[in-house]
Amino acid sequence: MKNDLLLRAAKGEKTERIPVWLMRQAGRILPEYRAVRSSVNGFKELVKNPELICEVTIQPVDILGVDAAIIFSDILVIPEAMGLNYEMVESKGPFFPKTIQNQKDIQDLTIEVIPNLQYVFESIRLTKKELNDRVPLIGFAGAPWTIFSYMIEGKGSKTFSQAKKMLYTDPMLSHSLLDKITSATIAYLKEQIKNGANIVQVFDSWAGVLSKAQYVEFALPYMQRIAKEIKEAPVILFAKDAHYILKEFAQTECAVIGLDWTIEPQQARSEAPGKVLQGNLDPCVLYADKEVIKQEAEKMLQAFGRQNYICNLGHGVYPDVDFEKAKYFIEVVQRY
Ligand code: CP3
Repeated sequence: MKNDLLLRAAKGEKTERIPVWLMRQAGRILPEYRAVRSSVNGFKELVKNPELICEVTIQPVDILGVDAAIIFSDILVIPEAMGLNYEMVESKGPFFPKTIQNQKDIQDLTIEVIPNLQYVFESIRLTKKELNDRVPLIGFAGAPWTIFSYMIEGKGSKTFSQAKKMLYTDPMLSHSLLDKITSATIAYLKEQIKNGANIVQVFDSWAGVLSKAQYVEFALPYMQRIAKEIKEAPVILFAKDAHYILKEFAQTECAVIGLDWTIEPQQARSEAPGKVLQGNLDPCVLYADKEVIKQEAEKMLQAFGRQNYICNLGHGVYPDVDFEKAKYFIEVVQRY
């Protein structure tokens, strides 16, 4: 591979410079993405089209110069492959017409998801071929707790109170669903790797609505299982707004821990000694002037240090960020 900085950093090996990529780098910040997106009839048509997925996955490598590509898809393909269809409502977000409410609903879900996700694997194979070993390809999935939240709520939520209600009122039922999601997710990630993904990230986007005790009971065991059972490639665990769980993540078999901006780099280093860390610039910094972007980026790089580190934002890049600013951030990191 021509540029394998990300993979070497993930394994804790020495790198001549810090690798950098952006969560949600393929998407609406790029005019080229918006052009492809408007050529189809909605998000789901794009997500099931391997040629277009290949194109939008490689766009940020060409345009932004990032050190990795992340396969263009969505975490919601797993609930769909398990039997819960979703709609992506224009400018609102995901909506599930049917949600999970009882044991029968859970029994009806399948964990034999691989046949239903062939479009993702075909996209990965095609993208690998087109990337031609320029940079590594990142695969991903949603974390069991985050997927559980969507399956219960049926849409986004500020509080995810319905999903949390299930944890408090029927812990056994909750565990049976979380367990099923975990099995499907592990099979899915392994198949992504088999088809060419070089490293995988698990997104626990709604970790922050749980207390530490709830995270320890309902989320951590499943993250541990994923990190343990995926041996074929390095695993990045990212739990948004949950740095209360950093010490526990450091004890898992994951290769890398992703961080949001609410934790100081030095604090993270002291709680996860020896682990490779990824993150964690506030995505809003990219709204600022170039001088501020440079200053904030370099402050972060200095605090994390040059080794055992992958540079990223603390969450996905916001769609209304000027892509020139994102590009500038990448340059600052690569020149550092
Ligand atoms: O990072 C990348 O560049 C790869 C692509 C990617 C998408 N979704 C494409 C997408 C990834 C990694 C995701 C993951 C994802 N999807 C997460 C976890 C990461 C995070 O941000 O916390 C979550 C929670 C989702 C669920 C989801 N998908 C929501 C809530 C929405 C609607 C809100 C929004 O951003 O529009 C989506 C749609 C979605 N997924 C879009 C993209 C580019 C926008 C759809 C469009 O182009 O119209």
